[in-house]
Amino acid sequence: MNVRITGTGSALPARILTNAEISQMVDTSDEWITTRTGIRERRIAAEGEYTSTLAAEAGRNALAMAGVAAEEIDLLLVSTVTPDFPFPSTACIVQDLLGATNATAFDLSAACAGFIFGLSVADKYIRSGAVKKILVIGAEVLSRTVDWRDRNTCVLFGDGAGAVVLEATDGEHELLSTHTFSKGAFWNLLYQQGSGSRNPATDRRTIDEERIYLTMEGNDVFKHAVRAMEEASTAALVANGISGTDLSFLIPHQANQRIIDATAKRLGIGPERLVINLDRYGNTSSASIPIALDEAHRNGVIKSGNLVMMVAFGAGFAYGSTLVRW
Ligand code: ACO
Repeated sequence: MNVRITGTGSALPARILTNAEISQMVDTSDEWITTRTGIRERRIAAEGEYTSTLAAEAGRNALAMAGVAAEEIDLLLVSTVTPDFPFPSTACIVQDLLGATNATAFDLSAACAGFIFGLSVADKYIRSGAVKKILVIGAEVLSRTVDWRDRNTCVLFGDGAGAVVLEATDGEHELLSTHTFSKGAFWNLLYQQGSGSRNPATDRRTIDEERIYLTMEGNDVFKHAVRAMEEASTAALVANGISGTDLSFLIPHQANQRIIDATAKRLGIGPERLVINLDRYGNTSSASIPIALDEAHRNGVIKSGNLVMMVAFGAGFAYGSTLVRW
């Protein structure tokens, strides 16, 4: 049985925050951010905009493209590290917003690799014969996790959501393979300090001692990211008996242009075969790949028959790849 992507969708907040504006908030510059990261601007959720509302909008767009009604969805997965609440799952809220009344809904946490992990889980659910139609959404509101006084992190992240509908049918846009990896020994190089069981939101000290924000050893993460993205990509290439030169496009997680360039170089992929939206949206964690996929599909960049590899790396560490015959 084949697993196909029959619809893609995305959603982005309207508010654009430019590097010039951030330069008014912390000691940084457009020049530093652009040359060190490749980011020029990012989207920031407005009051009343949440991970669930962005996720639902992206999901609605993917369902519309697939021509699938919300009630037909058997499984609804939301990958996020910025859920609306610790519980219930954001997926349950999205189920309600979409009217996907027949779906089993749950969240999946693999940070920036969350969407790839979601595809992997969905792929196995369909191949087992358990379900036929799945909505996988990557959605984040990272702007509410960063310390806007910390120039090391606040310049990097943005908000948004992307989604795909997966169906058990033959035809185009077929998932050829999924690979996932975890390296938990490095969890403390990149994590959200609050508001889980270690630094609970119910303990006043969490706020007073500011143990709430996203924290990252950027330089260490950078080195691991390049190696891991290569490892995950190579796993997909080997499993499918191809090499980097056979790929039509690489859609990498959009964290840093230098990570993307180093990964592409190791795989022998030129800049013309990279799908990039980092400059416009920053790092939207698990939303970055499905947003880029949706844009590349709707703009006709990726075409029928193209071999498209998606590869991601994030906190955990968690990383993985998916190969699709578009
Ligand atoms: N503006 C100006 N200067 C800055 C800024 C800024 N916004 N941020 C850091 N600097 C300074 C630092 O203070 C440091 O100054 P110092 O030398 O005086 O101490 C200097 O720039 C160099 O800092 P580095 O951290 O070494 O800079 P680096 O080149 O490594 O770039 C960055 C930092 C962009 C964070 C990079 O390390 C990176 O992209 N890391 C990986 C991020 C990533 O992939 N995350 C994974 C996914 S995220 C997820 O899973 C949620």
